[in-house]
Amino acid sequence: MNNLATDYAARTMYWSGPILFLFVVYHLLQFTILPAHPGDVYRNVVEAFQNPLIAGVYIVANVALGFHIFHGIYSAFQTLGASHPRYDTYRRDAAVAISATITIGNLSFPISVLAGLVTL
Ligand code: HEM
Repeated sequence: MNNLATDYAARTMYWSGPILFLFVVYHLLQFTILPAHPGDVYRNVVEAFQNPLIAGVYIVANVALGFHIFHGIYSAFQTLGASHPRYDTYRRDAAVAISATITIGNLSFPISVLAGLVTL
């Protein structure tokens, strides 16, 4: 670990892992195993995210996922041997770009519904 951002992400692995496990269990129960409207995915998603508490759970879980993915990608490059002081900036930038893209995409669902951009 060579700076504050990566050190922070490494420490977040301890709590982001368990949060993500609980999130996936809750998520599968909500949308796949016990959906409110079987077969109507759009309604299930929009109704769920109209509840700020549920939208909040998704926002927190997907921010945790973002940190988890950032650290995972950064570490994976190292595992594959792409670790050298000269290239570590690029390794970090690639990890930020990929994790940020996934996080922004995932957050767009609950935020669009909360903001009233997506309605039933
Ligand atoms: C805001 C972010 C997310 C939204 C809006 C979302 C939405 C959904 C929906 C609507 C389904 C049911 C699809 C269907 O029945 O056809 C689903 C299934 C699933 N989701 Fe998510 N999801 C999100 C994030 C995640 C994350 C972060 C993970 C894993 C870490 C995940 C894993 C799964 C799995 C394993 C399934 C079951 C397989 C499937 O039905 O395709 N989801 N998701």
